[in-house]
Amino acid sequence: MQMYSNTSYTSVCPHGVVVLVADPKADFMYTRASRFTTSGAPSEEILMSRVVEAAQNRGGTLCPICRALVSSNLGQHIRDTHGQEDFRRAILRAKEHGTSDPEIGSLFGVTFRQLEKIVTEACGANISVLRKPKAVKSWEPRDFVEETTTVWSFKQRGSWATHSGRYRGNWSPYIPRNVILKYSQPGDVVLDFFVGGGTTAVEAKLLGRRCIASDINPACIGLTLESLDFEPPTSLFKEFSVYEPQVFVADARNLSHVPDNSIDLICAHPPYAGIINYSSDIEGDLSRLRPDDFLREMKKVAEESYRVLKPEGKCAILIGDTRKQKHVVPIGFQTIDVFLRSRFRLRELIIKRQHNCKTTGFWYTKSIENNFLLLAHEYLPIFEKPKSPERALLIKEGFRGYGHVSPSEAKRLSLKRKIQELETTTVWILPREDFEKRLNKNVVDRYSGERGYVTIDFVSHCGGERRLHEQRGAKTNGLLFIKSSVLADNPFYLDVESYLRQMQMIVKQELPGIVKGGFLAIQTQDVRINGYIEPLAKRVVDSIVSGDLWLKEIVVVTSTQGERGSTKHVSSTDGLRITHQYLIIYEKVS
Ligand SMILES: C[S@@+](CC[C@H](N)C(=O)[O-])C[C@H]1O[C@@H](n2cnc3c(N)ncnc32)[C@H](O)[C@@H]1O
Repeated sequence: MQMYSNTSYTSVCPHGVVVLVADPKADFMYTRASRFTTSGAPSEEILMSRVVEAAQNRGGTLCPICRALVSSNLGQHIRDTHGQEDFRRAILRAKEHGTSDPEIGSLFGVTFRQLEKIVTEACGANISVLRKPKAVKSWEPRDFVEETTTVWSFKQRGSWATHSGRYRGNWSPYIPRNVILKYSQPGDVVLDFFVGGGTTAVEAKLLGRRCIASDINPACIGLTLESLDFEPPTSLFKEFSVYEPQVFVADARNLSHVPDNSIDLICAHPPYAGIINYSSDIEGDLSRLRPDDFLREMKKVAEESYRVLKPEGKCAILIGDTRKQKHVVPIGFQTIDVFLRSRFRLRELIIKRQHNCKTTGFWYTKSIENNFLLLAHEYLPIFEKPKSPERALLIKEGFRGYGHVSPSEAKRLSLKRKIQELETTTVWILPREDFEKRLNKNVVDRYSGERGYVTIDFVSHCGGERRLHEQRGAKTNGLLFIKSSVLADNPFYLDVESYLRQMQMIVKQELPGIVKGGFLAIQTQDVRINGYIEPLAKRVVDSIVSGDLWLKEIVVVTSTQGERGSTKHVSSTDGLRITHQYLIIYEKVS
């Protein structure tokens, strides 16, 4: 790999980020840079605090430019009197001084989106906090316990070392920490080609891994270098060495600076199609693409990932779904599909819970009234570049049968009671004792409407027993609920195919009995076969193809007892315990 160390070109973000570029036309290599601000004279600080104070007192607002007392909208005054450029600068200064986004919104009359756009255009990256990062308080997470199941949940995002949430959409450092510890050894090479604000690079450095970090956005490289501007204490490195990450501007679709078969672990978090805009005008920024185009470009990323990974190397990709017209667009499963088609195998399919979604008040009520769930999970598939396709490693998974739906579960609830009792996000965490009962109740109450429902349980093994349990609630049905504990013991691939065929058959037979506007709900669970994950929920979504059905929700269901593991290291061959199931919900649209 060719590297450049002498800087010959400097680009400066007017609001705090310095980027040093070796050669703007070649493969770019950066050296560390430190943050500085171009403004911040004490008099301005005082002025700004006066502006905020005046606004709070509602006695008018002091214009930060002409110092006139403005009794109406300050934003309008600045625009009319001083022009658009001063308006933008005043907003950026307020942000630099730590004024909160809602305060800026009411002070200057801008929406959150407009504010994000102004910051992204000025800094080249979507940064939430323009203030200088705080001093490091701790070097490691407190009471860290490695994850041992397939459901990961981090209520605190993590602020040890130089981590902070200031790059919008960055991932919690707990994710790369867990992935790096599980799937690499000290001295191994970790690659993150969507490095953003540098979270993975910081974790790799703290954990004694070599790291290659890149992003298409030069401003992100500035942020990453800033985050890496620390010397970890020697006490952290008693047993292994510390390696300074190599940081590049590069397009993840073309990793020409990374040789074939050279990487032990890829740990990356792509921008999901259209959810957050990470830059204002960077050619090749995948966050600006629509889902279909995004998936086509991710194919190139998957192929490059396969090329650079060593055989048996792992590739962890965090990806979430999105919504269109009140239906879910399963970008998560579609991205998994892209990687599987690029010859990867699936070692784990982890669910990462999101804690920032609004589950109270307005959104809570809307979720019931308009019958949609708030997206509260992302997928973290762990792919493996196979050494050979026939790797036999048998791991038994325990699997409970699903209980039947009892008629009392269809009793109608008033909206008021529903709001108190129904789940309103895509992650349902139910008590272990009456897990199935609560699950059934939620499905029936939410999706059978005023009409009846039919539930079907089936057990099927390839060439073996087929048991069908049916229960019909009424003549016309608003819900077809298929529950199947089909792959009870150590399944084979043929069982999976047989299961999917039966599922398709039942859907075909029963769908005509469901009214237009009614629902199909399928309860299913991923299984492990010979050490690899067979993503059954994804396979179900792939196999149910009908113009009559629109995918409404992908719900993850798990129990309250998460049973986090012990502090012992869990090796990648142990496999995580599968502790989640899925409900795939379709709406019958014609
Ligand atoms: C979700 S963010 C990554 C955040 C990162 N994990 C962190 O913690 O800061 C996705 C990143 O992908 C970058 N990106 C978008 N398109 C890219 C491409 N074609 N090649 C490389 N990076 C790209 C964006 O600039 C953005 O920083």
